[in-house]
Amino acid sequence: MVKFIFKECDVNIIMMGAPGAGKGTHAKEISKKYQIPHISTGDILRDEVKKSTKLGKTAKSYMDSGKLLPDDIIIEIIKYRLQRDDCKNGYLFDGFPRTIAQAEMLDTVSDPDFVIYLKCPDDLIIKRLTGRRITKDGKIYNIYFDPPPQGVEVYQRDDDKEETIRERLRVFYDTFSPIMDFYKKKDIFYEIKGDDDRDVVLEQIFRILDHNKT
Ligand code: AP5
Repeated sequence: MVKFIFKECDVNIIMMGAPGAGKGTHAKEISKKYQIPHISTGDILRDEVKKSTKLGKTAKSYMDSGKLLPDDIIIEIIKYRLQRDDCKNGYLFDGFPRTIAQAEMLDTVSDPDFVIYLKCPDDLIIKRLTGRRITKDGKIYNIYFDPPPQGVEVYQRDDDKEETIRERLRVFYDTFSPIMDFYKKKDIFYEIKGDDDRDVVLEQIFRILDHNKT
C-alpha cells in the first residue's frame, strides 16, 4: 500500500514500547538513516538532572521512583523542541507521547506518520535493564547481550534498579492502551517483536518505514 509520498527523510516517527523494549537502541540507527533528530524525553530530562536545573530537580524525584512527570511539563518541553530548525524535515520521538493527553497535544501541532511499537516480554525487559550500561556520550551496551569493550567507561542509570523497573513497567501498562487505540484509529500503528536480535528488529523497522514511505 502506498501510504505517503514525501521527500527523502521527511518523516515523523514515534518509537513506543515498555522500558527496555529497545526504543533508544533502534532510534539511534533510524535517526542516522533518515537524517532526522532523535528526541528522547528521557535524555532531555537526564540532561537537566545532570545540570541540576530547576526542571532537573523536579524530574529526578519522578524518574527515581519510576513515575511519569506531569503532562504540562513534558508538553512544554516538546513544543519548544519542535520549534528547532532540525525538526523541519521530520523527527523521531523516543519516550513521547506517554499519555493520551500528550498524544492529543502532539496532534494539534504535528502529524506523526509512523508509530513503531516494540513488544517485549517482561522477564527479558528486567534482564535487559538491569544489564544496561551507558557511556557518557550515550552509547548503549548490555553486560549480558553486548558488553562494553574493555577500558570503555560506562555507568548504570539510577532508575535501572529492579524495583524501579517494575514500577516503570506498571506505569507503562497503565497508560499504553488508550495511546495504542488512538494511533490504531489513525492507521499508523505498527507492532514489531522487540525480543528478536537487534539486526532482525532493525531490519523489520526499516522494512515498514521504507515500504510505506515510497
Ligand atoms: P526513558 O528514558 O524514556 O526510559 P524508558 O521509556 O523507561 O525506556 P528506556 O530508555 O529504559 O528503554 P529503551 O526502550 O530505550 O531501551 P534501550 O534501547 O536502552 O524515561 C525515563 C523516565 O523519564 C520515565 O520513567 C519518566 O519518569 C520520565 N519521562 C520520560 N519521558 C516522559 C514522558 N513523555 N512523560 C512523562 N515522563 C517522562 O534497551 C535496553 C537494553 O536492552 C540496552 O542495554 C540494549 O543494549 C538492550 N537491547 C535493546 N534491544 C535489544 C535487542 N533486540 N537484543 C538484545 N539487547 C537489546
